[in-house]
Amino acid sequence: MIELITAGESHGKGLFGILRGIPCGLKIDTDFVNGMLALRQRGFGRGERMKIEKDRINIVSGIDENGVSTGSPIGFFIDNIDTKLNATKRSFTVPRPGHADFAGSVKYNFKNLAMPSERTSGRLSALDVAAGSIAALFLREFGVKVYFAVECIGKTCAFAKDLSEDTFEKVLSSDILAMGKEAEMKAEIENAVKSEDTIGGRGLAIVRNLPAGLGDYNDWRNRADGLVAQAVMSVGTVKSVSIGESGITSGAIYHDPFEMKNGTLKRLSNNAGGIEGGITNGEDVVVRFFSKPIPTVRRGIPSVDIKNGKNTRSVYVRSDTCVVPAVTLVSAMRIALVFASLLTEKFGGETMSDIRASFNNYINSRRAFWQK
Ligand SMILES: Cc1cc2nc3c(=O)[nH]c(=O)nc-3n(C[C@H](O)[C@H](O)[C@H](O)COP(=O)(O)O)c2cc1C
Repeated sequence: MIELITAGESHGKGLFGILRGIPCGLKIDTDFVNGMLALRQRGFGRGERMKIEKDRINIVSGIDENGVSTGSPIGFFIDNIDTKLNATKRSFTVPRPGHADFAGSVKYNFKNLAMPSERTSGRLSALDVAAGSIAALFLREFGVKVYFAVECIGKTCAFAKDLSEDTFEKVLSSDILAMGKEAEMKAEIENAVKSEDTIGGRGLAIVRNLPAGLGDYNDWRNRADGLVAQAVMSVGTVKSVSIGESGITSGAIYHDPFEMKNGTLKRLSNNAGGIEGGITNGEDVVVRFFSKPIPTVRRGIPSVDIKNGKNTRSVYVRSDTCVVPAVTLVSAMRIALVFASLLTEKFGGETMSDIRASFNNYINSRRAFWQK
């Protein structure tokens, strides 16, 4: 089982993570991890904070002098440069609708309503990206790739007919991680800036080449679809998660036919999105998620000053306008963590070579299901 434990606040000294369960023998390519951290910060519509922070992973335990995992917990931190430049703590008593200010302050009895956002801030998602990139490196060792793209910003959507590796390579060069209609999507963000508003959208993540058989139907807690949904739904701003196609009502059209062709079993479509009965079926796992517009709206939203009960408008604090690209990457990296964990659970072993042997043995012993 692979688990991430996090510590740190948005305006604390830094962000800390412990990634437990990465087997011994995985080369941790920190350039890859730092590249993903840079991708999280990129993006039209991000605020001033992203210009200040230059996120890099600092691994302090769990790797040897060659950067190879030892099987011990991988401890790492990411610096908060902004805290050193700007030591003044935020404080306000007017909650922003849509943020954790109100509910979190009631729960913990905070008088400063800015406190909950120290832990719920999008800044913390740098830890998910760092840990998820290590999970993605682990998955790659088994030929599994994780892809992601922004599908919609506001009302503008762009879908690629061809979800090939090339399409996703191109996405990486888009500063909003889009598959098309980049100018229109940027115009949506510019309009939100002009009207002192924020804007949401929709992201896509695909996990390709997973073996059939990850996840389990015997206990609802172990279903792969449920684990993916929890991992993505708990990313800030995400309000819906779907796997595969939704909206097709006829069973005869929806369900993906099997066909034996030249001795190989094929599925003729993938409306199920790669998971049936809570278990991966060997097709692409296809996940979509809706990211709401972020709550810090410059022009304010009707709210109440909790100190004196007076009606007023929500406060504006330095903020992003659109975080759909970052949310898309963060969600994909959370999904990488889920499948890396399921893979270690199924194939066991403390070392990469043990897992590889068990993985290969499983694939060979199940081959009769898809080859004749
Ligand atoms: C990468 C990322 C960046 C974010 N940036 C902001 C921001 O600048 N301003 C803001 O109000 N919310 C931002 N959010 C969203 C809030 O963290 C989130 O809406 C809040 O914690 C409430 O949680 P909920 O939306 O899941 O209900 C960001 C979220 C993520 C994942």
